[in-house]
Amino acid sequence: ALALRGERDLDGLRVAVSAGGTREPLDPVRYLGNRSSGRQGVALALAAADRGAEVVLVAAHLDDGVLADAARHPLIRIERAGTAAELGLAMRAVSEDAAVIVMAAAVADYRPAEVAEGKLTKESGVLESIDLVQNEDIVASLAARRHPGQVVVAFAAETPQDEAEMLARARRKRERKGVDLLVVNEVGWDRGFEMAENTVQVIGEGGAVRARASGSKRSVADDIWDVIAADLG
Ligand code: CTP
Ligand code: CA
Repeated sequence: ALALRGERDLDGLRVAVSAGGTREPLDPVRYLGNRSSGRQGVALALAAADRGAEVVLVAAHLDDGVLADAARHPLIRIERAGTAAELGLAMRAVSEDAAVIVMAAAVADYRPAEVAEGKLTKESGVLESIDLVQNEDIVASLAARRHPGQVVVAFAAETPQDEAEMLARARRKRERKGVDLLVVNEVGWDRGFEMAENTVQVIGEGGAVRARASGSKRSVADDIWDVIAADLG
């Protein structure tokens, strides 16, 4: 794997990567969101582009500064998407002619059933509870309509009791979503999200562990691309 680094082994490969967390508006001043920093997704985009791939990076909400290097990269084009619905539309469009789809974004599972025109108030009583509706599973729908040879990669952040439970969940999730590869990492109150480092396992066909990677999000990204590159043949 290390021998590949520095080489343009992904030259000309068209890649679609999503990164960051979606925000689902409730009213003009509030949203439902999550703690995704976007770092692992952007690292995947940069790693691919440095290896010669042509990358479209669909960026949801990310921490400040995370996009800076990607914005300067000649092989990366950035599109913005705020909500799950916008991200789904953008990914569907850019996936048409992508050989690889990497869904690293943290997509909200639910959105408020109604978005209020004006700011909701305590006086109105409606802030007591919020009705939610489920968002489409974007990566599952991209996998269901993928064309022959297209590789679809999903991510999962889990808070398991132990390693065995994490792998079991990851294997079920890979099957459920119908993706080729599922990258799983353990998260918690104090790990995973805003960190520079990450530890992941890549689950492939039949639930096999194709790779375990630990280190900077960039080096983890390169290890993930090594697995994808092997599948592209
Ligand atoms: N994902 C997606 N569309 C959604 C939700 C998730 O495409 N509406 C994608 C993420 O981008 C990621 C993977 O699915 O690649 C991870 O989803 P995850 O939240 O772990 O799985 P869920 O099926 O939502 O299950 P859970 O109940 O554990 O959240
Ligand atoms: Ca989810």
